[in-house]
Amino acid sequence: MPEAPALSRAAAPSISAATGNLDLIRPQPYTTWAPQVTAEERATLRRELEQGAVLYFPSLKFHFEPGEERFLDARYSDGKSKNINLRAGDTAVRGAQGTQQDLSDLYKLIRRYADSSESLIRTLFPEYIPHMTRAGTSLRPSEIAGRPVSWRKDDTRLHVDSFPSNPMLGKRLLRVFHNIDPASPRVWRVGEPFGDFAQKFVPKTHGMWPGQAALMKLLHITKRKRSEYDHRMLQLHDLAKADLDYQRDVPQQEFHFPPGSTWIVFSDQLLHAAMRGRAMMEQTIYLEPQAISDHTHSPEAVLARMLGRPMLLS
Ligand SMILES: [Fe+2]
Repeated sequence: MPEAPALSRAAAPSISAATGNLDLIRPQPYTTWAPQVTAEERATLRRELEQGAVLYFPSLKFHFEPGEERFLDARYSDGKSKNINLRAGDTAVRGAQGTQQDLSDLYKLIRRYADSSESLIRTLFPEYIPHMTRAGTSLRPSEIAGRPVSWRKDDTRLHVDSFPSNPMLGKRLLRVFHNIDPASPRVWRVGEPFGDFAQKFVPKTHGMWPGQAALMKLLHITKRKRSEYDHRMLQLHDLAKADLDYQRDVPQQEFHFPPGSTWIVFSDQLLHAAMRGRAMMEQTIYLEPQAISDHTHSPEAVLARMLGRPMLLS
C-alpha cells in the first residue's frame, strides 16, 4: 500500500456539500445504566444499532467519585500508550503511572465504567448476553487533535475498526463511549453506510495467498490465524484512510458529543473519525456473529454478498 500524503487539518472536511441528508445519530432518553426499557423499544434499538446507527444518550452521565477528577490530567498516562486501559479479568490497569494509591483508584474508576457499560448493554440488548464477552476498557485523557501519527493510525480519518495483529474471526466490535471531559465536546465525523463504503473499496481488496495466515501466526504478526474476513476488513480500513478524496467527498455528518454524554456503535461497521476532544472512556464488547439478527447490513453479510460466498471465519 503506498504511503498516503498527510491530511492537513485545514483540508479535513467538516459538513460539506457532500453531506446530503445523512443522519446516523439516534438520541435516546435514558438516564441510568440499567434503564427501564420496553420490548418494543429494545427491538427498535437493536434494529438501529445493527443497521449502523449511533445510539446517542445525551443524558446518560458517568459520575466521578470524589477525587477521581484528577485523572482527567494526562500526567497519569505513562506516555507510551495513548490510553490507560484495563483488560477484562485484570485487577490492575496498564499504560498508567502514579503512586500505588493512584493506580488503585484508576483501576476502581475504569472497572466501574466497565461494569456500567456492560450493565447498559445487557439491559438494552438481552439477546446479546449469551454471545457477548467483555473486552478492554480505556480512559483516554489526551487531546486528539494535533497528535502526530502515521496515516494508518490517524483516527481523524474515517475508518471502520480492524486490528492487524488481533483477528476477530467475525466477532463484532460493540463499543460504549463516554465523553468524560467536563468542558469540551467530543467531535466525530460519521460516514455513509457500510454497504455503500464496501461497494467502493471491496473490489480493490484481495484474498490471502495460500499459507499466509499460518505464516503470520508463526511469525507472531498475528495472535491467531487471520481469517479472510479479517484480511478484507483490514484492507478496507487502510483503503479508506489512504484515500483523501474519499475522506473529503463521502457523504458524512459531523457530530459534537457534549460533556457527560454516552454513545454506542458497532465500530467495525460505522465509518467514524474522532476529530477533537479530550478525556473519554470506552468499553469494548465482543459479540459472536450469530448474535446479529440483521443479515443485510453487517460487514460479514455485505462482504459475503459481494464476494459471492460466505466469509470463512477461521
Ligand atoms: Fe476507530
